[in-house]
Formats: sequence, structure tokens, C-alpha cells
Amino acid sequence: MYQTLLTSLDNTIFTITINRPDKLNALNKTVFEALNKALDEVYTNTEIRSVIITGAGNKAFVAGADIAEFTDLSKEEALAMAQRGQDTFFRIENSPKPVIAAVNGFALGGGCELAMACHFRIASANARFGQPEVNLGLIPGYGGTQRLTHLIGKGRAIELLISATLIDAATALQYGLVNYVVAPEELLDKAISVLTGINTKAPLAVAAAIQCANASLGSTGGYAMEVNEFAACFATADAKEGAAAFLGKRKPEFKGK
Ligand code: COA
Repeated sequence: MYQTLLTSLDNTIFTITINRPDKLNALNKTVFEALNKALDEVYTNTEIRSVIITGAGNKAFVAGADIAEFTDLSKEEALAMAQRGQDTFFRIENSPKPVIAAVNGFALGGGCELAMACHFRIASANARFGQPEVNLGLIPGYGGTQRLTHLIGKGRAIELLISATLIDAATALQYGLVNYVVAPEELLDKAISVLTGINTKAPLAVAAAIQCANASLGSTGGYAMEVNEFAACFATADAKEGAAAFLGKRKPEFKGK
């Protein structure tokens, strides 16, 4: 049904698989359009009780926003891109039906942000998490500066955000970024088993619990600041150098302008 997503509905559990394995499931415009259509289905289809988001292949959940779409992006286009990403991820976070990420490999940049927008995360032992945007002269733009801080605390979040360090699944578990770590071949079974339990609970109470937990975080001003700062980074020479270096498979030379 979708070009870049696979979806299936089994026993009221809807599975959304980001499907660009040759590009490590990087999120481009087409993926976002498809993801929004799949989320329409989540919101409106009464057969769906809960959702798993995962990535195709055994190497990556999602390795980030598609860096190939970063070249020649104006500040205004960068702002719209971050806003679109945030809006989509808010739809996941605010879904009245539980959405969990089954993280089957790299969850980097927009991929880590996608996993964090889900209500909680289960990782396979080969998963790796990180926000490596500073390698590109950028910051996260899809809510990463906010949700990472909420989930693992400010000190650990700032270290990951400014060092671009990737953490393994065991560290993610220790940080509280994921709820479980399982063998790769057990990942989907574990996600299904957790959701099967949740699906026996009262749907309106489940939705109310999610809504109240989300409301505990209060002000959303940090998200708006992130969109603006993401766009401001895009206006720098360093951001152009960062994307060109990644696509040219070389190390970037940043100049602080
Ligand atoms: N955007 C676009 N393309 C991406 C991508 C991204 N975020 N992540 C990976 N790819 C592409 C690579 O360019 C490569 O394409 P090619 O085969 O046409 O050259 C393909 O996916 C495989 O990736 P590759 O880098 O060859 O795999 P690897 O095992 O050597 O490294 C990673 C894996 C995840 C460490 C590396 O791909 C990476 O650093 N990706 C970018 C992560 C990132 O900065 N994300 C944040 C973006 S804001």
C-alpha cells in the first residue's frame, strides 16, 4: 500500500515497518507522507488497539533524517522540515493507542527521535542510539533535544547531544531510554507479548493514562526553540560542510561559521 512503509494488522496490533533498508531506513519526505497516512489509520481504524514501529532489515531501525535531502535547503525550508517532523512525532506521542518502538539496530538522529516519540521502547541487543547531528553542524529538529532530556536527564542528554556519542542497548537500558533489551530474533515477539497484555486493559483508561503522562511535562516552548535553532544551524557554512562531508564519505572541517 505504501512505497516506503510496510504495515500489517494482526490480532489488533498494527505494525509499521519503515522500509528503506538500502539507506538504513533514513526518513525522507516520502516516508513522512506514508507515516502520516499510517497514523491516520491508527487514529481512525477501530480494529487497531496498539502499534509497533520498527525498521526493515537487521541493521537499522532508522539511521536518521535523509541527509541527501539536506543539501541546498534554505533556512525557511529547514524550519518547515523540522516542523513537519515534530508535528508527525507529536501525533505518535499523543496517540490514544499505545505505540511502542521495536528498535532493531541503529536508531540515530531522527531515528532516535522517532523511537523517543513512541510511548516506550524495546531494543534488540544490537541496537545503538544517538543524536549525531553535531557531526553535520546541526542539532536534532524532531524533538530530540526535549525528549532525550526528559527520558535520560539533562546531564546525560547534553553529553550525547554535544559529543555525538552512540550508546549500545545495555547503556540505553541503564539510562532508562529503553524498557527491555532482548535478542534480535526475539524483538517482535517481545513487543507483541507486551502489547497483548496491554490490549486486555480498558482502552479509555489506557488512553487517559497516556494523556496524563504526556501532560506531566508541561511547557512545550523547548520544541519551538528547537525548530528555530535547527533552521538557524542550516543557515551556517558548517551545516553545508557537514552534509557534503557525509555524502562525500569524508571527515568534515568545521569553521564555526
Ligand atoms: N541519510 C541518508 N543516507 C543514509 C543515512 C542518512 N541518515 N544513513 C545511512 N545512509 C545511507 C548511506 O549513505 C549508504 O548509502 P550508499 O550505500 O548509497 O552509499 C547506506 O545508507 C548505508 O550506510 P553506510 O554509511 O554505508 O553504513 P555503515 O555501516 O558504514 O554506517 C552508520 C552506518 C549508521 C554509522 C552511518 O550510515 C551513519 O553515520 N549514518 C548517518 C547517521 C546520522 O548522522 N544521522 C543523523 C542524520 S540528521
